[in-house]
Amino acid sequence: AETKKIAVISGDGIGPEVVAEALKVVKKTEELFGYKFETEEGLFGGIAIDQKGTPLPQETLDICKKADAVLLGAVGGPKWDSNPGELRPETGLLGIRKALGLFSNIRPAVVFDCLKEASTLKPEVLEGTDLIVVRELTGGIYFGEKLRRQGESGEEAVDTCVYNVKEVERIVRQAFEIARTRRKKLASVDKANVLETSRLWRETVNRIAPDYPDVELEHVLVDNCAMQLLRRPSSFDVIVTENMFGDILSDEAAMLTGSIGMLSSASLGEGSFGLYEPVHGSAPDIAGKGIANPIATILSVALMFRLTFGYHDAADSIERAVKEVLDAGHRTGDIAVDPSQAIGTTAMGDLIIAAMKH
Ligand code: NAD
Ligand code: IPM
Ligand code: MN
Repeated sequence: AETKKIAVISGDGIGPEVVAEALKVVKKTEELFGYKFETEEGLFGGIAIDQKGTPLPQETLDICKKADAVLLGAVGGPKWDSNPGELRPETGLLGIRKALGLFSNIRPAVVFDCLKEASTLKPEVLEGTDLIVVRELTGGIYFGEKLRRQGESGEEAVDTCVYNVKEVERIVRQAFEIARTRRKKLASVDKANVLETSRLWRETVNRIAPDYPDVELEHVLVDNCAMQLLRRPSSFDVIVTENMFGDILSDEAAMLTGSIGMLSSASLGEGSFGLYEPVHGSAPDIAGKGIANPIATILSVALMFRLTFGYHDAADSIERAVKEVLDAGHRTGDIAVDPSQAIGTTAMGDLIIAAMKH
């Protein structure tokens, strides 16, 4: 098979720890399936600020642009928290998404049966939960004009939320297409009772909905959605929403699966190129301890194989191996019912690659 290029930007905190396990999965895939991958690493995030003076060095962006896909760990940490905006690791993350045109962020939340006790919710509420949050990733309040100024009563700050019809339409069409391949239900989440951007969002959704008559559409206000996600999670199939709402709702959805350490993501643009990263952050509270859950990043590799490379056999193999290891009762601390029985990051990675089969 043709060699596929993967740019690897592992970042800060637990980023390098979980990416190391994901790379073992990539290597095991080569051995089992004969696919060939070439990896190239780039500095990114806080470590890039320290070494290059910027969170997203041009060199790193070039490595990503030359690649077929990007594997990302996580960025950020207390060391950089009081830096000005342009010297924050998170600004690098927004920059790379924008520079690579990755407007669509797919975040599946699937409840593994054997992990129902790991969630803080009742098992009967979680039964059958299998949803995808489709988050708009390069617009909205994250990318609007920001400023600080002196107002009449002292210092004030402004964040501007902007969406145009084209931005809404492309993400909503993608969500309809995804819903078509699943249970054919789409929940469009907004705050149309208050926000003008949400009213534009809802009008756009309603205008294109007739193109997808086979998909059942509901509009849900974001505050209600946050509540319904805990009340009736299994009734959701695909949720499509704007950037910040998607950020918040996907962390909430993570807890349906037992842990944020379980949630993978794919960030896509118009073509097959994609950036794959766990939904969680750099977890400074557990960084360096070797106890982070690598499954979110490993499942992100499965998404990469499926969505960018079309290597469905390898993706199936990874997902089955994860399920088998969890079914056998192996747990990292975040999903362990009995924390004294928890295993570490590398032990979990080793078990998963050992369970992968052709
Ligand atoms: P976080 O996701 O890093 O951590 C939240 C909690 O979940 C912590 O208690 C952490 O220990 C736990 N956790 C996260 N991932 C885990 C894993 N794989 N295994 C076990 N436990 C895990 O969110 P935060 O604490 O709000 O943010 C920390 C830093 O990460 C901040 O600098 C933030 O900006 C950054 N961040 C980065 C990304 C990213 O790179 N994509 C995403 C979110 C937050
Ligand atoms: C995420 C993160 C980022 C976001 C931050 C770190 C910029 O929370 O990927 O979910 O808000 O998009
Ligand atoms: Mn987030």
